[in-house]
Amino acid sequence: MSKNVLLLPGDGIGPEIVAQAERVLKLLNEKLNLGLNLDSALVGGAAIDETGVPLPDETLDLARAADAILLGAVGGPKWDELEMSVRPEKGLLGLRSNLELFGNLRPAILYPQLAEASTLKPEVVSGLDILIVRELTGGIYFGQPRGVRQLENGERQGYNTYVYAESEIRRIAKVAFEAAQKRDGKLCSVDKANVLEVTVLWREILDEMAKDYPDVELSHMYVDNAAMQLVRAPKQFDVLVTGNMFGDILSDAAAMLTGSIGMLPSASLDANNKGMYEPCHGSAPDIAGQGIANPLATILSVAMMLRYSLGENKAAGVIEEAVSKVLDQGLRTADIYADGCQKVSTIQMGDAVIAAIDSIVQH
Ligand code: IPM
Ligand code: MG
Repeated sequence: MSKNVLLLPGDGIGPEIVAQAERVLKLLNEKLNLGLNLDSALVGGAAIDETGVPLPDETLDLARAADAILLGAVGGPKWDELEMSVRPEKGLLGLRSNLELFGNLRPAILYPQLAEASTLKPEVVSGLDILIVRELTGGIYFGQPRGVRQLENGERQGYNTYVYAESEIRRIAKVAFEAAQKRDGKLCSVDKANVLEVTVLWREILDEMAKDYPDVELSHMYVDNAAMQLVRAPKQFDVLVTGNMFGDILSDAAAMLTGSIGMLPSASLDANNKGMYEPCHGSAPDIAGQGIANPLATILSVAMMLRYSLGENKAAGVIEEAVSKVLDQGLRTADIYADGCQKVSTIQMGDAVIAAIDSIVQH
């Protein structure tokens, strides 16, 4: 049975990196007869320019019908002056919430070839392999009420609401406990339970659920300490689980442990493992259009897509092996460049991954 993959290149470097990921997906589709149909649609600023809204109905319909979605990035200075409700980011957030993609998996793995590219000492990061499980459709990102209001004294007040219902906590905790079971059996839940009631409840529910997972060792950490520990001794972690905003912040920090945020893929899954896949980095407007962005996070996101939503483990493994191979060859985009390596463009990196896949699949 054929399956549908929807490509949403978006803004900034999005189209450049998705183009390379698309080449990879098409090649594997052909070589391994994956039976995938590829389609593409507008989201974010690109959609605003064409249709006036960041998430056109047509895009949402295609996304609902797809078996998996690959997204580049959204946003940029061009749309920064727009009112919050019609900004490019709403396109991304709208997809996440409409498709109920509550489980966001952000693995931070250090490729040994990139130990020198990290700003941390090699001994602190070598062998790093952690997974951040971020709740993606709740918390302060979506809590109501929100807005900017006028106070009686005439000044304006901005406000957002940090809320989590028990069921929301349980479903993301289940994802995290199960992920820990498949890894080293260690789960650290990150909260701010010394200040925020919502995370006191979070902690309570995690503790309660831990009884059903005797093979997982659960610990708790305040988010400020977690940020510090991530840069002090990141290898103490196996799986981290946290809410939407803390996860947003900690995953950027974790990305830098691996040398560059340009290396980090992510999966956002619903309860049935339908997913949207995207690099953890943003649209990087400062380098957009220059052909120098690192396409590997997006290409690795395709690998996650093949594994989690399309059941194509072999094809996923081929991509991961190909990426490792091009790093072995010393090819580096600017963000991961180090002395003695060969600096390549976005397209050259894509070419190299394609060539590596060719040679892997032939054997
Ligand atoms: C991310 C991004 C998004 C987020 C932005 C673009 C809305 O930073 O995926 O981490 O905050 O979730
Ligand atoms: Mg982020």
